Amino acid sequence: MGATVVVGGQWGDEGKGKIVDYLASRADVVIRYQGGNNAGHTVVVRGEEHRMHLVPSGIFYGKTSVIGNGVVLDPGVLTREMAYLESRGISLEPLRISECAHLIFPYHLRQDALEEEQKGAARIGTTRLGVGPCYQDKSARIGIRVIDLLDDEAFPELLRRNLDLKNSLLRRVYGDPGYSDEDYREMLAKYREYGRRMAPHVTDTVPLIEQAVRGGGNVLFEGAQGTMLDLDHGTYPYVTSSHPVAGGACIGAGVGPTLIDRVVGVVKAYTTRVGDGPFPTELLDETGAAIRERGHEYGTTTGRPRRVGWLDLVVVEVARRTSGLGALALTRLDTLAGLERVRVCVAYRHKGRRLEAFPHSLKVLAECEPVYEELPGWPELSPRVRRWEDLPEEARGYVRAVEELSGVPVGLVSVGRDRVETVELADVFAPRSASCADGAARL
Ligand code: GDP
Ligand code: IMO
Ligand code: MG
Repeated sequence: MGATVVVGGQWGDEGKGKIVDYLASRADVVIRYQGGNNAGHTVVVRGEEHRMHLVPSGIFYGKTSVIGNGVVLDPGVLTREMAYLESRGISLEPLRISECAHLIFPYHLRQDALEEEQKGAARIGTTRLGVGPCYQDKSARIGIRVIDLLDDEAFPELLRRNLDLKNSLLRRVYGDPGYSDEDYREMLAKYREYGRRMAPHVTDTVPLIEQAVRGGGNVLFEGAQGTMLDLDHGTYPYVTSSHPVAGGACIGAGVGPTLIDRVVGVVKAYTTRVGDGPFPTELLDETGAAIRERGHEYGTTTGRPRRVGWLDLVVVEVARRTSGLGALALTRLDTLAGLERVRVCVAYRHKGRRLEAFPHSLKVLAECEPVYEELPGWPELSPRVRRWEDLPEEARGYVRAVEELSGVPVGLVSVGRDRVETVELADVFAPRSASCADGAARL
């Protein structure tokens, strides 16, 4: 059935983990291609909740689960996640780790925190997990990869060199004590132990992905974060340091663009954002607070309250365009239930002018007002909703409006956290020719 990229269409936490898990029953391989443990992907299977930060959501179906070269990997977090999965009776046999993935070290976390503190009010609101600084080192060509960790001769020297470099940065710029020789020895021993634990799973993951696609397998690329957190296409500088858009899968998994068959955008029925930065449809009133509480909108990774707002189709348009979305997976229709009216932002107004495209100037963005269309709300969903016909009429109207206004057919609707709480409107693995018109006709 080919290669399918699943991307976040907003600012992350759209429900990618749930959707990837749902689709994984029909996949052979699932790959994480960017980001690190700043991601928190929740999968609920038979009422049991699993929060994954690094291991792809395909692991719950026992599918080959690849951590690609584009991921930055904190081996302490990964080995804990591996131990957790084993403790839940989930086999790690299908786990593959790219030898080219870059490693996060404790100095990355320290640098992340210090950079944020130095920025003061202009902070990004990062997860402080060292993700940005690790990508900085990768670009500066001083990063340490998994393959380096497994090289007994090279690793101690690379670590020593990097600690010396980081010590000068930490001490001279931030007045931080830096790392002692004893810290070095401890870090070396700890990371060697991580290396031993990971080694049986480490490989060159690029050929295995190509073989799976060319062999007619079904390959899923599990995006982390979301379009508006993309380093190039997001609300810079309030972004993450990687490329969550579909193109990121080509680099971060080592797959040529001609092998990608389709892209599914996961979009919440409203919008959330965790961390600082612009958010035109943010609701700072009791409706926003009510949605946050109903939806338990608190970060999977940091526990921070998520900012909540109406669905913003100007944002979804950025996702459609930059990732070439062929279908949407619309999540959390249940959370948005119970409101008399709901709003959808279809454009912005800036100094009396209507803007259809997302502006890249933070100043312009701050001056924008959302232009809303109002739609009828829908009553609480029955926990038994599994088919399109089971949805209240107004909820169906909402889905249809999202489809028409975004120009992207909705292939999946999610009505709860569990993998079974999903309504399939169209086969998202169908050939690429499925168009919005097909989607509209189907509904
Ligand atoms: P991800 O980062 O995109 O994988 O999303 P997260 O797992 O961080 O956050 C999404 C949250 O919404 C998780 O707690 C999911 O279990 C939950 N979720 C996903 N889809 C639905 C849905 O349709 N309804 C409800 N109520 N919760 C959902
Ligand atoms: P998933 O995959 C939501 C946000 C942070 C911060 C910004 C930069 O679960 O959707 P970073 O630590 O990456 O340097 O922080 O990006 N962020 C996320 N927000 N979901 C995520 O991942 C996120 N990963 C990073 O809150 O605003
Ligand atoms: Mg998340």
